[in-house]
Amino acid sequence: MKRKGIILAGGLGTRLYPLTRVTNKHLLPIYDKPMIYFPLTTLMLAGIQEILVITTSEDLEKFRALLGNGSQWGIALDYAPQPSPAGLAQAFVIGEAFIGQSPVALILGDNIFFGHGLPDILQDATARSGVATVFSYYVADPSRYGIINFDAEGRPLDIQEKPKVPKSSFAVTGLYMYEPDVIDIAKSLRPSVRGELEITDVNLEYLKRGELEARRLGRGFAWFDAGTPDALSATSQYIQVIATRQSTRIACPEEVAFYMGFINAKELEAQTKPIADTPYGRYLTEILERN
Ligand code: DAU
Repeated sequence: MKRKGIILAGGLGTRLYPLTRVTNKHLLPIYDKPMIYFPLTTLMLAGIQEILVITTSEDLEKFRALLGNGSQWGIALDYAPQPSPAGLAQAFVIGEAFIGQSPVALILGDNIFFGHGLPDILQDATARSGVATVFSYYVADPSRYGIINFDAEGRPLDIQEKPKVPKSSFAVTGLYMYEPDVIDIAKSLRPSVRGELEITDVNLEYLKRGELEARRLGRGFAWFDAGTPDALSATSQYIQVIATRQSTRIACPEEVAFYMGFINAKELEAQTKPIADTPYGRYLTEILERN
């Protein structure tokens, strides 16, 4: 079965107040795009074409207005509400009917991945079956994340959620690939002391079963979790520098859809026409001319 994807774009965004008083965090700009374009294109680059967007009941229609049913990008987008931010693992309970018997990837709506060779790594993990895959990244501030430590052979030993005294500096990033049994695992969880169904508990269950694979994203990759004002600004600046230096646009769904073969040149051209006089439209025209 083809892997499906879930983008978790709910939560209260309290660390970004007052930016998030009337705007969902994942609709805020990262340089030239709404934040959600980044996790969306990450899933598309992984080869995933059936995607569920989970967000607050209040904001759901805004996401639908922005992204539609996905057919313009050769994908299928569906939407489901999360009534309150009860934890990341709740995505699999909410998404039960959507997931069905398929393997599934979860990406957090504020996680931004960038780096050479990323599509290959993502597609490789998408195609693996029988294991759960997480991606780790060496960080300067490990107490802010789920932290994984490894044995001498590089096998995962333990994962802790936001430890006060971290056993390593390897964060577990917000992209997870699971088997359909993740639904039962999520349903069996009890809320943590902070009252959430923790994704770290899902990962610990796979670790206990000997079914967890942790891949390291090396320093050639950039990974951001844009949930604070500093991180939001730093991520925007990073994307701006790369985009202007290389004269490319990052996280452009039309381009990714074309690159992945989800839409053809004719379909891209049809979408470009109505916005041909805008900078974004001119960029899409360039993509067509380059190919
Ligand atoms: O970014 C990676 C980290 O994400 C991991 O290292 C941690 O193990 C994991 O717990 C998570 O930590 P955060 O504290 O950063 O998660 P946060 O509560 O900020 O939520 C991440 C995103 O998911 C955010 O964009 C809001 C959304 N969210 C969060 C919760 C708790 C929801 O949509 N629903 C929720 O119930």
